[in-house]
Amino acid sequence: MIRILHVVGARPNFMKTAPIMAEMAKRPELFEQTLVHTGQHYDANMSEAFFVDLELPKPDVTLGVGSGSHAEQTARVMTAIEPVILQRKPDLLMVVGDVNSTLAAALVAAKLGIRVAHVEAGLRSRDRTMPEEINRILTDQIADVLFTTEESGNENLAQEGIPADKIHFVGNVMIDSLVRSLPLAERSNVLDRLSLCAGRYVVVTLHRPFNVDQPETLREILTALCDLARDLPVVFAVHPRTRERIAAMGFRAEGSGLRLIEPLGHIDFLRLYSASALVLTDSGGLQEETTYLRIPCVTLRPNTERPVTVRLGTNRLVASEHRAILSAARAGLDRAAPQQEPPPLWDGHAARRIVGALLCGDQKP
Ligand code: UD1
Repeated sequence: MIRILHVVGARPNFMKTAPIMAEMAKRPELFEQTLVHTGQHYDANMSEAFFVDLELPKPDVTLGVGSGSHAEQTARVMTAIEPVILQRKPDLLMVVGDVNSTLAAALVAAKLGIRVAHVEAGLRSRDRTMPEEINRILTDQIADVLFTTEESGNENLAQEGIPADKIHFVGNVMIDSLVRSLPLAERSNVLDRLSLCAGRYVVVTLHRPFNVDQPETLREILTALCDLARDLPVVFAVHPRTRERIAAMGFRAEGSGLRLIEPLGHIDFLRLYSASALVLTDSGGLQEETTYLRIPCVTLRPNTERPVTVRLGTNRLVASEHRAILSAARAGLDRAAPQQEPPPLWDGHAARRIVGALLCGDQKP
């Protein structure tokens, strides 16, 4: 029996951990699983809704750390998770992605001599102004087992001196969740609720501090979105961080055609973006999901840790400037739908490979 302690904290973690837990649950004689939710995300539509849509089990432990500065949030997760790890004594701690909860939990486990597995290892933007880049580099350095999603991850880890026998190229668990949920999303009525026609609207998500924390940048982006909304409906699912910033600016979208809506659950949001003409975002996950679904994506970032999405042609990086956004969005809308194959191993079976690698590698100390 291998005792696994899974840690989730923020929205994208839920989509990555769900397929791994489901796969392990098929082998109850081999895996004993505990789920810890740090509480980094806590609004119902940022957390609970995802547990329901993804059929994630109720967390065994919730730490309730909430929001705060990076130091506060990271420190709160560390302090709160240490007694849980000491009490549960897992054989392996599994963390996913690059949020503060990921690094905090990995650091505590590593110092307690607990083996750490990192899912979505090796991604690098080479931009250390992004907190996620620091989280990625440090988590990978202390992880014992590293699961990668794309070739660039393997290359980055090799360059950073991670031994090859720790690295497993398994594909993308985010795509596992997408593949599982697509048939359910077909039944969502979100387009009717929002009075949208499939293929005839743009979906927007933005939450990175460099896009939303500076009022001048945010105003530039919002103005571009209002202009784009003259061509076709633009639906912006607004993250709580962004909502606060928009409110602080006193921006009003009324009368512009730009529609600001609350964040949606996993299934409704999948339906929304999978039927869209174009996605405009700064999310990591959406760059991958649109690549899989061959939907043009304009990413408001100077770099990406997911270069395969750009190489395959669906994703285009653009500066957060009015003219650049408008012209990239219009070019994306005018272009014929890209026809490329998904990246290698983005096939819905990454979680199965993770479980296979853990069993073959005899991860039990
Ligand atoms: C975090 C991750 C980011 C990830 C994103 C996904 C880090 C450093 N950042 O960013 O990598 O892409 O999650 O959404 O870990 N808030 C609420 N309700 C919530 C959650 C947040 O109101 O449920 C508000 C709070 O004002 C909070 C702010 O959003 O201060 C930011 O939340 P935080 O978890 O610190 O970072 P995100 O921007 O969500």
